[in-house]
Amino acid sequence: MSLPPSAYFQLAPDLKICRILNGMWQVGGGHGTVQPQLAIAEMFQYVDAGFCTWELADHYGPAEDFIGMFRQQWIADRGAESLPSFQALTQWVPRPGRMTRQIVESSIDVSRSRMNTDCLDLLQFHWWEYRDLNYLEALKHLADLQSEGKIKQIGLSNFDTDRLQIILDAGIQIVSNQVAFSLIDRRPLVRMTEFCKANGIALLAYSSLCGGFMSEQWIGAPEPRRQQIANPSLLRAQQSINDWSGWRLFQELLLILQSISHKHGVTLPNVALRYVLDQPQVAGVIVGTHLGRSQHVASNSRTFDFTLDAEDYGKLQSIWSRSNDLFRTIGDCGDEYRS
Ligand SMILES: NC(=O)c1ccc[n+]([C@@H]2O[C@H](COP(=O)([O-])OP(=O)(O)OC[C@H]3O[C@@H](n4cnc5c(N)ncnc54)[C@H](OP(=O)(O)O)[C@@H]3O)[C@@H](O)[C@H]2O)c1
Repeated sequence: MSLPPSAYFQLAPDLKICRILNGMWQVGGGHGTVQPQLAIAEMFQYVDAGFCTWELADHYGPAEDFIGMFRQQWIADRGAESLPSFQALTQWVPRPGRMTRQIVESSIDVSRSRMNTDCLDLLQFHWWEYRDLNYLEALKHLADLQSEGKIKQIGLSNFDTDRLQIILDAGIQIVSNQVAFSLIDRRPLVRMTEFCKANGIALLAYSSLCGGFMSEQWIGAPEPRRQQIANPSLLRAQQSINDWSGWRLFQELLLILQSISHKHGVTLPNVALRYVLDQPQVAGVIVGTHLGRSQHVASNSRTFDFTLDAEDYGKLQSIWSRSNDLFRTIGDCGDEYRS
């Protein structure tokens, strides 16, 4: 299996990614146990199928170590010269506080060491507390580390539009911001996409499948109780569904997505991912990957085989016109993580 050229995006001159990224929160605990050898073996299957970009974070359990093990195995089996065949985009999520060069560099060195690489492809920076302006110090040190060759490109995770402006005003160049973006969470369309377009910043979308709720298996299912929910992705998504308008309207959305998917001869998740990929400035969608437990490689590859038309958008609009405005209830991108 191979993916068409439209499945790839040039995020920066030195960084091309697959537009469906393999999200690794699912190996980070809370999503069930993962056997490392099984996970590493499966990572080869993803890359060989064209899904060559991994998305992870320093706090996703062994995710960075898995990348390191995968890289080592790759070199042993296929040689170091073909390493550029895949990319690994990590996040750094420090506790707020003073951000000296030494603190920033030692954290980045830990990720470089765990991921078994001299240079991180993309370092996505997250910050919990906007009132603590040390995030600008951290970003300046990251920019220095970039110019010294330890990081290829700098991205952000969960920053809002106002803070993006402040960061750009400080002279820091970023290529991407990672935000929640789905058929139910369309907050980026209010301010973020326009700002990013004006400033050449790409978006990486997450939770676009609502942790897995956005699939055929949930059609007609009763709303699960909190205690029945299997993992933190689904828990996070349940909160979003409740904020958005609740399970009943979500069920209507699933039926509409199913009818659209049947029309195009694809699956319901294909439609959900296609919608997000087609939004302005979206470079890619990060899809959670349960390595060693379940795999949707064949199904997700079909996302690149069709386009949504005006009739499809008309049907979706009939749902959106009855849902809550999450920008009004939660705020801009990332505000759900801040008080
Ligand atoms: N920066 C942040 O704050 C942040 C927050 C959340 C997530 N993320 C990133 O985004 C990634 C994904 O987000 P998410 O965890 O919210 O999950 P998601 O991508 O919305 O949903 C992932 C789940 O959808 C199911 N799925 C995938 N393809 C499918 C298909 N073709 N058919 C049916 N089901 C399918 C899988 O469940 P099964 O395996 O059970 O089948 C998978 O685990 C994470 O891994 C992480 O890298 C970042």
